[in-house]
Amino acid sequence: MSAKILDGKAVAEKIRQNIKREVEELKGKGITPGLVTILVGENPASVSYVTAKQKTAHELGFYSVQENLPENVSEEKLLKMIDKYNRDPQIHGILVQLPLPKHINEKRVLYAIDPRKDVDGFHPVNVGKLVIGEPCFIPCTPYGVLMLLAETGVPVDGADVVVVGRSNIVGKPVAILLMQKRKPVGNATVTVCHTGTKNMAEHTKRADILIVAAGVPKFVTADMVKEGVVVIDVGVNRIGTTPEGKAKLCGDVDFEGVKEKASFITPVPGGVGPMTITMLMKNTLESAKMWAG
Ligand code: GUN
Repeated sequence: MSAKILDGKAVAEKIRQNIKREVEELKGKGITPGLVTILVGENPASVSYVTAKQKTAHELGFYSVQENLPENVSEEKLLKMIDKYNRDPQIHGILVQLPLPKHINEKRVLYAIDPRKDVDGFHPVNVGKLVIGEPCFIPCTPYGVLMLLAETGVPVDGADVVVVGRSNIVGKPVAILLMQKRKPVGNATVTVCHTGTKNMAEHTKRADILIVAAGVPKFVTADMVKEGVVVIDVGVNRIGTTPEGKAKLCGDVDFEGVKEKASFITPVPGGVGPMTITMLMKNTLESAKMWAG
């Protein structure tokens, strides 16, 4: 079998068109969804993510603000900035790009964001709501994964899903979401593998759906998957630079090998990445609607 490529760019574009239409409608009622992205320092990956988020926000008609703080900014100054945007009625979404420099307490910063503006879904109030199945901001990458799975039309209900990775940003929330009685993608039997897992391949080979967020380039190889598996590769690894000076990326899955066995597979780049940014816009739009009442 040679896999169908799950084109995240195309799926994201479809969702973006719907968001754009909704933003225009909202603007007609005097409401413009507002997003602030806060970047501390100049980590090249973070700069590129934040630039892409801002560009998309502009394209979709959002009010968007980019804040750039120096690497040595004090935690106090960052917290003050968050407080300002917590109280700014033009802003419905606040995103602090991670990772933060070591002298800043990441938890303190994330906890300072008003949960009603936490479009990343990282605040413990939103994490708690997610776990008990209450409406909340779903973290953008897991949300993108759900949307891509929905796009395949492959039944998730009753499927054996294996998640590789247990991060707070991807592995944990995606596992929780997929085991919940959620429609259209939920009610799966979920196994979470991590660095403590004894025989990784034993688990991954059983997967009907395999979600990989290991942070290791080409970690999953063809011998670790079964024929017909649906593979969602969340990995973004920088493995060099193109002659044009752009970052060369690869996923956590050996795409060339695994695509010969999978039924669906996401490429890197062009799979989960564009979905993540789109779901951030979706969360900001929903937040604006919620604040409007
Ligand atoms: N760094 C890597 N991924 C993310 C994300 O989804 N949100 C934020 N704020 N920072 C990140």
